Amino acid sequence: MKAKAFAKILILIIFSLSLWACSTEPVIDIAAVTAQPKDFVGSDTCKMCHLEHYDSWKMTMHSRMLQDAKANEDAIIVPINEETIRADLAKLSEKLKVPSDKIYVPQKEEILYTIGSQWKQRYLVKKDDMLYISPIQYNADTHRWVNYHEQDWDKRPWLLKCGGCHATGADLEKNTFKEPGVACEACHGKGSWHSALPKTAVFEKRNTIINPAKLTMGVAAQICGSCHNRGHATMKKGSGWPVGYEPGKALEAYYKSTSFEAGDVKHVYANEFSKGHHQQFIDWQQSKHAKEGVTCTSCHYVHQIGMPQTRSQTSKSGSMQCFQCHLQVNTNLAHSIHSFANCIGCHMPRIAKSAESGDIRSHVFVTLLPEDTLKNPKIPNSCQTCHKHKNDDLEELQSNWKKLAIIPKPVGKPIEPVEYKYTR
Ligand code: HEC
Ligand code: HEC
Ligand code: HEC
Ligand code: HEC
Ligand code: HEC
Ligand code: HEC
Ligand code: HEC
Ligand code: HEC
Repeated sequence: MKAKAFAKILILIIFSLSLWACSTEPVIDIAAVTAQPKDFVGSDTCKMCHLEHYDSWKMTMHSRMLQDAKANEDAIIVPINEETIRADLAKLSEKLKVPSDKIYVPQKEEILYTIGSQWKQRYLVKKDDMLYISPIQYNADTHRWVNYHEQDWDKRPWLLKCGGCHATGADLEKNTFKEPGVACEACHGKGSWHSALPKTAVFEKRNTIINPAKLTMGVAAQICGSCHNRGHATMKKGSGWPVGYEPGKALEAYYKSTSFEAGDVKHVYANEFSKGHHQQFIDWQQSKHAKEGVTCTSCHYVHQIGMPQTRSQTSKSGSMQCFQCHLQVNTNLAHSIHSFANCIGCHMPRIAKSAESGDIRSHVFVTLLPEDTLKNPKIPNSCQTCHKHKNDDLEELQSNWKKLAIIPKPVGKPIEPVEYKYTR
């Protein structure tokens, strides 16, 4: 009886094994696949096998940067009402290079794609088969319309100026891109070889795609730095994004970052802290964190798997982020005055601008003191985002700071103020 049952099971196993063998995909000639040039396949292809990563990417802003306004009407976050728009533009008439009633305002039907949604939104329209950024911008926080290159908007092709940072697989020669938004292959590289290989060939599979977690820290951070950066392409004149760069390559060959020293007073302060947005990489490179190997992905998730949803995709919300590593901070000096633990209030002041000034945080992680502003009035400080009433009297704030920033003396003696020496 026992032997019979065993034989039955054996037959069943053999049967199901053969079924399995028949149902596996046809044998794929790896050499033939890899003889073709690598190409983009699009995130819908990745989704077939990496559903969890796909879904968690969909939850992030990366997937929403550039949206097809024809496919999804909700992508446009505000009614496109010409009257309202012109009324807002008229309020700026002194700054305008084209009178507010002459500025081109697109009709809703003309809008093909939206750019952004968090701080501001701009709109892509087509002219002579080229995509251009129409000269109006909606600032989400203040609900107002402002002008954007109203005098030369149709001389600035979007693909050349911005395309590579907002879409995936931008191709200047063909005047196309593969997919709107920052999709899988913007960070993992072209996926055609990887997607074509059979599921079982795990080893080959891994070798055909970039996993940033397996790169050295510097090379991995450059993937983020290929977009969270400002400057110009070295391989293509007039382009603002690193034309020719691919994840895993050395970014320096394809991109030259901007700096105050190079004359970019519009986007960088005299101390080389960022004034413009999408410059996190420039800031971070100057920080102690960069030197110690604390990178973008030490603090930010790009796949929200096993993490709570937080503002700006940090693994813990706001200043809680800092406590993941800085369990203890020196309670002398700077930290002795404030009873709260708003680390980022001081160490990541909102001194850069996307839509309205002060919406973007510094990533140098250094506190700017009143004396920094006293030395150079064009440099902001961390303090005045809260100490607004001290607007006119920075001297006083600095001297109160010095007085209060005392180092406690050993027990038994009264605490006396000592001269606070600030070195950088
Ligand atoms: C046919 C199924 C399939 C498709 C399509 C596919 N993958 Fe994979 N992927 C796998 C398998 C299997 C592995 C190897 C097992 C593992 O590491 O989990 C893998 C591994 C990976 C890894 C880890 C590599 C490593 O070295 O650790 C990344 C990253 C990745 N895939 C990204 C992508 C991206 C991006 C796309 C779309 C361009 C994609 N995959 C399309 C099946 C697929
Ligand atoms: C903004 C950059 C970025 C985008 C966009 C992105 N990834 Fe990732 N992905 C990463 C990084 C960085 C890692 C390394 C792990 C980590 O830090 O989260 C990773 C890890 C992975 C892994 C796990 C590899 C492992 O260690 O096993 C897979 C699979 C993967 N990504 C697939 C995808 C797919 C599929 C998409 C699109 C739906 C996508 N990624 C979009 C940056 C990105
Ligand atoms: C291809 C360009 C590109 C790459 C590569 C890229 N990003 Fe981004 N990232 C963007 C753009 C564009 C946005 C703005 C998205 C929006 O507002 O819709 C953004 C937004 C973000 C945000 C802000 C999200 C929010 O809620 O405010 C974080 C954090 C971020 N990226 C981190 C990273 C990290 C970490 C990497 C590297 C692993 C990376 N990015 C790689 C282009 C890129
Ligand atoms: C070097 C890469 C890069 C280039 C070039 C670039 N951007 Fe961006 N842009 C980003 C990143 C990264 C972000 C998000 C991070 C931030 O704003 O600090 C962003 C944010 C934005 C936002 C706000 C998104 C939101 O959700 O509020 C808009 C709008 C925008 N860019 C439009 C443009 C336009 C138009 C151009 C071309 C004239 C351009 N950008 C060029 C990388 C770039
Ligand atoms: C030590 C941790 C840490 C590192 C390293 C770090 N960030 Fe951030 N980042 C933060 C915190 C904290 C915020 C603000 C979160 C909040 O407002 O709650 C932030 C905000 C952002 C934002 C949203 C814009 C803003 O100012 O609110 C972007 C985009 C971003 N980081 C990108 C990057 C990129 C790209 C890198 C690497 C070059 C990087 N970050 C490195 C902690 C970090
Ligand atoms: C992943 C771990 C990690 C996280 C998260 C982190 N740090 Fe750090 N931080 C470090 C390391 C490592 C160093 C360098 C060693 C040191 O000086 O302690 C450092 C250094 C610093 C320094 C410079 C110290 C000096 O001597 O100049 C400051 C300031 C700082 N961190 C602030 C922050 C703030 C603010 C946050 C939250 C936004 C934060 N850190 C989040 C690991 C981290
Ligand atoms: C009132 C402003 C302020 C606040 C709030 C603040 N810091 Fe600081 N912190 C400073 C100043 C000023 C320094 C001196 C060095 C510098 O400029 O970065 C400093 C130094 C540091 C250092 C390096 C030396 C040390 O003392 O250990 C670390 C690490 C640090 N802060 C982390 C944090 C963390 C984590 C928090 C939140 C719990 C925090 N800071 C809150 C202003 C502040
Ligand atoms: C996030 C908001 C915030 C930031 C950033 C901030 N402060 Fe304060 N500060 C406060 C608050 C609130 C108090 C009231 C007391 C408390 O919390 O302990 C205070 C108290 C003080 C005091 C003692 C009382 C006074 O007004 O004389 C001084 C001095 C001071 N701050 C200086 C600074 C300096 C210098 C900086 C920049 C390095 C700074 N603060 C950054 C909010 C802030």
